[in-house]
Amino acid sequence: TRPTLIGAPVDSGQRTAGCLMGPAAYRVAGLAEVLDVLGTPALDRGDLALPAALPACTPHNPAVDQLPATLAWTDLIRTAVEAELAADRLPIVLGGDHALALGSVAGAAAHAARVGRPLFLLWLDAHSDFHTVQSTSSGNLHGTPVAYAAGRAGFAPFPPFPAPVPADHICLFGIRSVDPAEHRALEACEIAVNDMRVLDEQGISAPLRRFLDKVRLAGGMLHVSLDVDFLDPGIAPAVGTTVPGGATFREAHLVCEMIHETGLMTSLDLVELNPYLDERGRTARLMVDLVGSLMGRKVFDRPTRSFS
Ligand code: ARG
Ligand code: MN
Ligand code: MN
Ligand code: MN
Repeated sequence: TRPTLIGAPVDSGQRTAGCLMGPAAYRVAGLAEVLDVLGTPALDRGDLALPAALPACTPHNPAVDQLPATLAWTDLIRTAVEAELAADRLPIVLGGDHALALGSVAGAAAHAARVGRPLFLLWLDAHSDFHTVQSTSSGNLHGTPVAYAAGRAGFAPFPPFPAPVPADHICLFGIRSVDPAEHRALEACEIAVNDMRVLDEQGISAPLRRFLDKVRLAGGMLHVSLDVDFLDPGIAPAVGTTVPGGATFREAHLVCEMIHETGLMTSLDLVELNPYLDERGRTARLMVDLVGSLMGRKVFDRPTRSFS
């Protein structure tokens, strides 16, 4: 499946300005060229843009920041992602902060429901992003997309999530920062929380393989959402929400290679890159290299290991 690049300069999900420069940074760092070399050239749709007039809305929770802009982005991105999937392409959404996943996962879920396939969600992130519009304490909507995709209540005035992703189809991976309200809600559901304790003890490949096997056996579609802060801040400084103890360079590439080998990924978000905080482009380049691994780059081609 050929990839499509969708620029989504979303900056309304948090308060550290700069994520809107993300799509440009991925292009400067050579994302299209990497895909060309792999023999899977991308169609670049350019950047989505908000309409001049934003919807008027009053949040039920006054702490929520920039709700009208995020509502408008959600609608735009959902439509764009669904259209690419319907055209049998692999949408790669270039963020933008993680609020864009309110739209991208909704687009993937709407498509999956239409074609009658189950959707699975792999969330590579330091954070669980399991707040609702009601529960968020920071008011930053980038902390909410997993809860929206899971169909949790408390999302007015967002439209109902098209086809909620069952909890046992969601895998959080790399987690090391969870707020109390998220913690309570995660304990009450079946979402797999692979926090750093699990990954330190079991390594990165066994828990990931368990999840990928489940997707494969179900004949599922797989949406991968890669937050820059999944990575250790020492290798990926260009993010507003750094959390120590993230994935290493080698772990991150292994995750991406394993996902590629399954051939299961049907849509991808690259989120939270803040180029204004980068050091000579190193985080943008690392993210582009990880997309290379996700799309099939490897040092040596070995026969794909059997997953059954
Ligand atoms: N849980 C925190 C909050 O709700 C942090 C969320 C960070 N999310 C992210 N996509 N980086 O504000
Ligand atoms: Mn902002
Ligand atoms: Mn996130
Ligand atoms: Mn995060």
